[in-house]
Parts: sequence; structure tokens; C-alpha cells
Amino acid sequence: MEKTALSRRSMLCGVLVALAVPGGLAACGSETTPPDTGTAPADGTTPGSSGPAIIAALADVPDGGGMLAGNPSNSKPLVLVRTGETVKAYDATCPHQGTAVAPPEGGVITCPNHGSTFNASDGAVTKGPATKGLTEVPVKVEAGQIILA
Ligand code: FES
Repeated sequence: MEKTALSRRSMLCGVLVALAVPGGLAACGSETTPPDTGTAPADGTTPGSSGPAIIAALADVPDGGGMLAGNPSNSKPLVLVRTGETVKAYDATCPHQGTAVAPPEGGVITCPNHGSTFNASDGAVTKGPATKGLTEVPVKVEAGQIILA
């Protein structure tokens, strides 16, 4: 029984990958481990999928505030900042020593480790010990979803 299920899955995987991912037949070498291409497509899609790389639903991000979410291209944390229908995203890795910063409050993003603060509107450092700002990650809102731009 198990052998039949695996055989069907293997066959389906080979057909689907061959259709969807050029050169992707090697992706079916493992039944349990997804393929790791090491790089994300430049078009903002998730590797192995045909749709955009969705970060979060706009409705899930508090207006006038923000939240942390995973970057679908590399799984690193992003801090999202929402102002109405506009969303900015920054790599949440603090430039001081790499701690993930907290979501914005009152227009300020704070690192919980040593207290550096950053302007939520542009990521600029406003108080050290960090000496440089957060790195912006281009995103856009489409159909109510925040996606990589
Ligand atoms: S790691 Fe963020 S202020 Fe030190």
C-alpha cells in the first residue's frame, strides 16, 4: 500500500515539476525534503510556485503600526510598517549585533537587545548603539496581500 502511494506521488511530482519548473526534475530526488535552489527568483515568486511570494495579508497588519513576518525569499524576519494602504518592510535584523527588532510603536522601531531605535518611516537610526539604519526590502500590496516587489 505504501509503495503504491509513493510511486503515485513520485510520478505526480515528476510530471508537475517537469511542467512547472524548468530543469526541476532533480527536485523529486527526495520525497520529504523540498528542493533548495539556494536563490530566490528575481520576480518575487516563491521557488517552486507560480504565484507571488506573499508576506502577509494587509488586514493582518495593524494600521499605524506593524508586525514581524517572514521574508518568503530567505525566511529572515521582516518588520512591516503600515500607514493606511501603504506598507514598508525592513530587514528586522538589527545592524548593531543582529537581534530581531520589535514591531513599530508610535513610529519608532526598537531593538530589544541594546535599545537602538529606528524611524519607522524610513528605517534610519535615531538612537544607538546601532550606527546605521534598517535595510528596506521593497514590497507592494496587491489584492489585499503584501508581496515582495
Ligand atoms: S543588537 Fe540591536 S541594539 Fe544591539
